[in-house]
Amino acid sequence: MVRGVDESPSSCTLIMVHPLPVRITHWVNVVAIFIMVTSGWRIYDASPLFSFSFPTGITLGGWLAGALQWHFAAMWMLVINGLIYLAYGIFSGHYRHNFLPLSFNSLLQSFADAVHGRLSHPVGEYNPVQRLAYLGAIAGIIVVVLSGLVVWKPTQFQTLGALMGDYPGARLVHFLCMAAIVSFVFIHVVMVMVVPRTFIPMWTGRARKPR
Ligand code: HEM
Repeated sequence: MVRGVDESPSSCTLIMVHPLPVRITHWVNVVAIFIMVTSGWRIYDASPLFSFSFPTGITLGGWLAGALQWHFAAMWMLVINGLIYLAYGIFSGHYRHNFLPLSFNSLLQSFADAVHGRLSHPVGEYNPVQRLAYLGAIAGIIVVVLSGLVVWKPTQFQTLGALMGDYPGARLVHFLCMAAIVSFVFIHVVMVMVVPRTFIPMWTGRARKPR
């Protein structure tokens, strides 16, 4: 319940907050990202970039070849699902209506509110911090896919590779995007736990809005 707001059924209307395509692509994306990240950690462990490895228990695939199979299978899921989400978001006006406008001043104000524990989350609206985080997550996933293409086929994707510092640069970009996505997911899930009334509507599409 929002402090000071009567959310009893008689004083609320049910409104559509997440259209079906957004809900389906969001949850398919969660499964795809989970498989991509955990199998990616197993692939990383076969030839670590840094002086640490991921514990085998939190990786997927059992061994390098198994992990590669999971990674490539989930890659199709991530890319096809992502293209459907992007096409829907652009052509339905979802991004225009829900992620924009996003001004620097509104972000500063939102960050200040967050620091003072009074960041608002009106039903059916994303606040500026959420808008920035979601746009960042979408951009991170696009760059992780593009850098993955370079790591997968460095010769065929030479031009793209040149933008990222060729094969070694693309590997680093791929790793850093993974780290950014995992950090986003961690904070995102904590925020859902802080505002749990947002969880069910991400499945049903509808939320109660005080009249
Ligand atoms: C795996 C990576 C994840 C990514 C990349 C991701 C990304 C996103 C994005 C971009 C949105 C906005 C969707 C839109 O309106 O177009 C969103 C909303 C949401 N996500 Fe996730 N998400 C992830 C995982 C999760 C998980 C694990 C949960 C469950 C705890 C979750 C719960 C939600 C909820 C409840 C909303 C709606 C928030 C609100 O109405 O304020 N997400 N997510």
